[in-house]
Amino acid sequence: MEKGYVVFARANQSRVQRLLIPLLLLIALLSLGIFKLPHHSPPASYEPAILKHCRSLKQAPGPPPNFHKRKQSDRFASGTKPTLIKNAKIWTGRNNGTHILHGDILLDKGLIMGVGHFGTASYGNDLTVINAGGRWVSPGIVDIHSHLGDAPSPALDGAEDDNSIKGTILPWMRSLDGLNTHDDSYALSISGGVTTSLVLPGSADAIGGQAYVIKLRKTTERSPSSMLLEPPYQINASDPWDSSIPPRWRHMKHACGENPSSVYSATRMDTMWAFRQAYNKAKHIMKQQDEYCSKAETGNIRDLGDFPEDLQWESLVDVLRGKVKVNIHCYEAVDLGGVVRLSNEFQFPIAAFHHASETYLTPELLKRAYGKPPAIALFATNARYKRESYRGSEFAPRILAENGFTVLMKSDHPVLDSRHLLYEAQQAYYYGLPENLALAAITSNSAEIMGMGHRIGYIKKGWDADLVIWDSHPLALGATPVQVFIDGIPQLQSPYVSDKPPTFQKSPKVPNFDKEAQLTLDYDGLPPLNPVKAAKLMIFTNVSNVFVRSSGTVKSIYSTTARVGGVVVSRNGRLLCTGNQSACLTDAVLGSEVDYQLVVDLKGGSIEPALTSYGAPLGLEHINQEPSTNDGFVFEPLSQHIPKILGGSIVRAVDGLLFDTRDSLYAYRAGVTTGITAPSHYGFFFGLGTAFSTGASHRLESGSVLQEVTALHTAIGFDDTPSVSTQIATLRKLLITPPQGSAGIWFKKVSEGSLTLVVETHSADVIATLLVLKAEIETAKGTTIKLTISGANEAHLLAEYLGEANVGVLVYPRPFPTTWDRRRIAPGPPLSLNAVQQLIAHNVTVGLMIAEVWEARNLPFDVAWTSLDVNGTLGKEEAIALGSVNVEKLLGVKVEAQDADLVARGYSGDSLFPGKVVGVLSPRKGVVEFF
Ligand SMILES: *[C@@H]1O[C@H](CO)[C@@H](O)[C@H](O)[C@H]1NC(C)=O
Ligand SMILES: *[C@@H]1O[C@H](CO)[C@@H](O)[C@H](O)[C@H]1NC(C)=O
Ligand SMILES: *[C@@H]1O[C@H](CO)[C@@H](O)[C@H](O)[C@H]1NC(C)=O
Ligand SMILES: *[C@@H]1O[C@H](CO)[C@@H](O)[C@H](O)[C@H]1NC(C)=O
Ligand SMILES: *[C@@H]1O[C@H](CO)[C@@H](O)[C@H](O)[C@H]1NC(C)=O
Ligand SMILES: *[C@@H]1O[C@H](CO)[C@@H](O)[C@H](O)[C@H]1NC(C)=O
Repeated sequence: MEKGYVVFARANQSRVQRLLIPLLLLIALLSLGIFKLPHHSPPASYEPAILKHCRSLKQAPGPPPNFHKRKQSDRFASGTKPTLIKNAKIWTGRNNGTHILHGDILLDKGLIMGVGHFGTASYGNDLTVINAGGRWVSPGIVDIHSHLGDAPSPALDGAEDDNSIKGTILPWMRSLDGLNTHDDSYALSISGGVTTSLVLPGSADAIGGQAYVIKLRKTTERSPSSMLLEPPYQINASDPWDSSIPPRWRHMKHACGENPSSVYSATRMDTMWAFRQAYNKAKHIMKQQDEYCSKAETGNIRDLGDFPEDLQWESLVDVLRGKVKVNIHCYEAVDLGGVVRLSNEFQFPIAAFHHASETYLTPELLKRAYGKPPAIALFATNARYKRESYRGSEFAPRILAENGFTVLMKSDHPVLDSRHLLYEAQQAYYYGLPENLALAAITSNSAEIMGMGHRIGYIKKGWDADLVIWDSHPLALGATPVQVFIDGIPQLQSPYVSDKPPTFQKSPKVPNFDKEAQLTLDYDGLPPLNPVKAAKLMIFTNVSNVFVRSSGTVKSIYSTTARVGGVVVSRNGRLLCTGNQSACLTDAVLGSEVDYQLVVDLKGGSIEPALTSYGAPLGLEHINQEPSTNDGFVFEPLSQHIPKILGGSIVRAVDGLLFDTRDSLYAYRAGVTTGITAPSHYGFFFGLGTAFSTGASHRLESGSVLQEVTALHTAIGFDDTPSVSTQIATLRKLLITPPQGSAGIWFKKVSEGSLTLVVETHSADVIATLLVLKAEIETAKGTTIKLTISGANEAHLLAEYLGEANVGVLVYPRPFPTTWDRRRIAPGPPLSLNAVQQLIAHNVTVGLMIAEVWEARNLPFDVAWTSLDVNGTLGKEEAIALGSVNVEKLLGVKVEAQDADLVARGYSGDSLFPGKVVGVLSPRKGVVEFF
């Protein structure tokens, strides 16, 4: 079978051999039956190759019948020691993820050799024994949608290989051919428990090409193909043509809607026609093949000529033969409908719809797809970034599961960092997807939908030894691997693990969102989000904790573990009394307003400072990829022509504010009630930031703008012209000799030390230069400059110097090496100490930031997760400060503590999942608002 290949592999030795090659190749091709000998009568017992091939066309893909009798994995790396994991709580993946077992797991020969209780005497001293100490063990995470390797990180122009734009129908492209083995993400994603990914081509084309399943670990061969899991035989033309071996699953990417339309200036109608034309072509080839085979099978082999085959279309023919898992990027009802029609017209099944933001609105449509209903692969809360995802909902996973669909969570790495695919499952669980299905969505079910459920996605005897030992329940926020095994090989060297309380081993308690999920359906995905104003006098009962702001910090003013809880009384959104019933429920406190009071039972919840979002254009855009819904971008003063009419004026973000955006309102409901935003920009720029209420309806409403001008913002970047040193030179000039016009006035304020300068940059080299520049200007002017670095992926490398210079930083809670200038991240547990922890150790003021507007609502998760990642070095107060007072301090926002919003949050157990926000106490607006 593999002769042809061997010839190629050795084809560079002697001249004789070179001459032999064409001949050997011909023989090999003959043996494969590609060309037939014209007058050859086979012996009676011999089955002609072509008949074997015809028979294999009809074979269903999958593992060979004796697969589970294997004694060793085909991926076993010799020298790998057997391992016994003792005393584990094992989530096996069986019974829809409801099967949990306490016991041991034995790994050997790349396989799981035992689960539960068994003898290991035969291993003697060979066995590495790990005591899991009762911790959770799950199968390795399986990502159904990744561009790992094809879109490697840090991104460099030389290695962007996930989309061909040579046409919209390209079934012959193969993601394997672009798989870079040096992506920093392999190790990072493994550190989040990811062991297998389906690497799909990008979504620029209607048919972007074939996809491949890889395991993420390093191999001794260091080649892309050695990373593949059960590659289809077509990859090196080693097709067995042997009906005793079933073919392996193949995988393909399709996309509909905006992406293929925009790349090819086409419309949805063009794209659907392109699909139909391609499938029609494949259908004709299949028909010719079937006719050929039926003739061959009735004995007429001689005069048939060549087997009808076309390398460009063979993979699409295999789709029609049901041998390919087709994964389709498709969002809206209009596109889902088109593809469901296509699947019925050409009779091929769809493995999964991806992104799929309107699938939860159209279950009946999806059930009509050819064959069986597709699985649905989703992001948890990443939505509204384009029109197609405008109706995306956090409740989609639970609604789809309720309708009987297989729900998968996916990363689309590097769109989301697949290291945190578990977080997607945790959020789906938080918003109502049952626990068993949330874990299945990234393990057993994703493995099944890939056609790999016979070997990965479960902890079962005979399955691949891919598993994760977690430091806590895998659905608990911040769950981190203590160890990850791939093919039985431990992947983490001396992992950094934070101490977690024992309560983190239990399934986390989450809020009930039944009402919100129903409203989302009732309103076609756009439920009303605006808050409702409540009574002037509010009484919160059964309150367990009260935190407030106090001179630039957060402090606890009340805490009880008593079952009755405490009482908080507020009037016009201001705290009036905090304490027990006998202290607060008195005539002196309540006055004569008893008729107008409203009592809310917080059931053990808390009152705490509202959070503040920064980093994305929150309040400047409704739908990121729709220019007509956005404020737009400022001019780049160094590379664009700025119209004279602007003179020396400076842009203020406050003038571009758009209220009532869904992302702002979602943030408000999550207790993130302030947004601080700088003007949107590409490269070097300058402009004035602003602070606003995310719950306000318009600029004229009282309390809508908190501070018109907050700080002066600029950015130093590598991806733009002119040079970084030119950008620094410009900044130096602006600060030392401020120009005429209004811009100059603001730069003067910075050099005088009365206005904060925020520089968005990541590189430690640029940050170091900025510290030098700061000192230079301070010396020249005799002032102290207020400088803040935002982004700051590499700031931890200079923690000591930042601390000394009193320069604070705003950082992403989970850094990622997106580009070269930000590649030296501190990835945090289990790979390193967290960056925040390193910075705080040097007294650097740290705030958390986001990159895209949909993330604003998730800040409470970021705050809680960061507090877990810093291994107990921050108290609850300091953790809240990371997402509130610190952010404001670093961005020049002055808020009087008594005027700042507080949120009333329901109880959510000990897991640190943020409780559901019941209401916002807003002294500035003079009200309490409810949802
Ligand atoms: C898993 O759940 C699905 C739908 O919820 C159901 O159709 C299926 O039978 C279940 N399978 C098992 C093994 O319980
Ligand atoms: C060709 O690929 C198959 C997997 O599909 C593999 O088993 C075989 O070893 C490969 N042949 C060569 C020569 O690499
Ligand atoms: C976390 O803190 C505990 C207790 O202070 C310490 O024993 C452990 O080594 C710390 N872990 C890391 C990774 O620093
Ligand atoms: C209620 O609080 C007041 C003031 O803090 C305290 O003196 C009193 O003992 C408390 N009463 C109860 C029943 O706990
Ligand atoms: C207060 O809330 C806790 C936690 O939800 C609950 O266990 C307790 O029964 C509640 N107490 C009252 C008096 O409602
Ligand atoms: C941080 O600040 C504290 C309190 O002011 C001080 O004791 C400590 O030495 C400082 N640490 C560093 C690394 O500067």
